[in-house]
Amino acid sequence: MRYAIICDVHSNLEALETVLTEVKKREVERIFHLGDIVGYNANPNECIEVFMAENISSIMGNHDAACCGLDDPLWFNSAAKQAIIWTRDKLNSKCREYLRGLPEQLVLEGRILLAHGSPESRDNYILDWMDAMRQFAVMEKTSMNICFYGHSHLPALFAFRGFNHDLAQHGKHTLDWSNRYLVNFGGMGQPRDGDPRTCFGIFDSDEMTVEFFRIKYDVLKCARKVEKAGLDTYLAERLLAGV
Ligand SMILES: [Fe+2]
Repeated sequence: MRYAIICDVHSNLEALETVLTEVKKREVERIFHLGDIVGYNANPNECIEVFMAENISSIMGNHDAACCGLDDPLWFNSAAKQAIIWTRDKLNSKCREYLRGLPEQLVLEGRILLAHGSPESRDNYILDWMDAMRQFAVMEKTSMNICFYGHSHLPALFAFRGFNHDLAQHGKHTLDWSNRYLVNFGGMGQPRDGDPRTCFGIFDSDEMTVEFFRIKYDVLKCARKVEKAGLDTYLAERLLAGV
């Protein structure tokens, strides 16, 4: 089965539409999103409506939970918190209910986990090898071979054996069912690795391959909408810089 995997759309309609155009050229059977449909940028309802229309399956991110009122935005920085409060006000009731109904995690084919922050928690960050090792232990207990995750907005490929983090930035990699992996295709609606292009991944469970993609989109249009909406200008600046 061929899956497109996207994460951290964050109300960035321009990135979402560009990625979907690219995904449709690549004959995937399902599209999964790893949480944070909303927050930061200026098109929350429009992005959720695309998810509904395109039948994209999503799990819940920490921004989704805060924006639909399931969590308090206590632990967010001030720009993120302002965007959450702005988004709460803008969400229509249908879109709010859609967010409230998102599952915490999903399992594909019995051994592939989809999680927002980490296998352990929606709010955990996996940033380095030590974080990854802790999460491999969690995966072992639940017999998961691969976990696709997001939240950090940083592309990464950690392998339990044969670690090579540097390979994760581009291209296609063949995985091995006897190993365990943590895979992050990057934060498509707000990249933070210094590259402002949007991103997505394709996982082929028959070939056992993951492929990382980066593509240009109209980042300036999205940044201008952020400014026009009255959101923190830092959010527009970081989009343009990819940080
Ligand atoms: Fe996020």
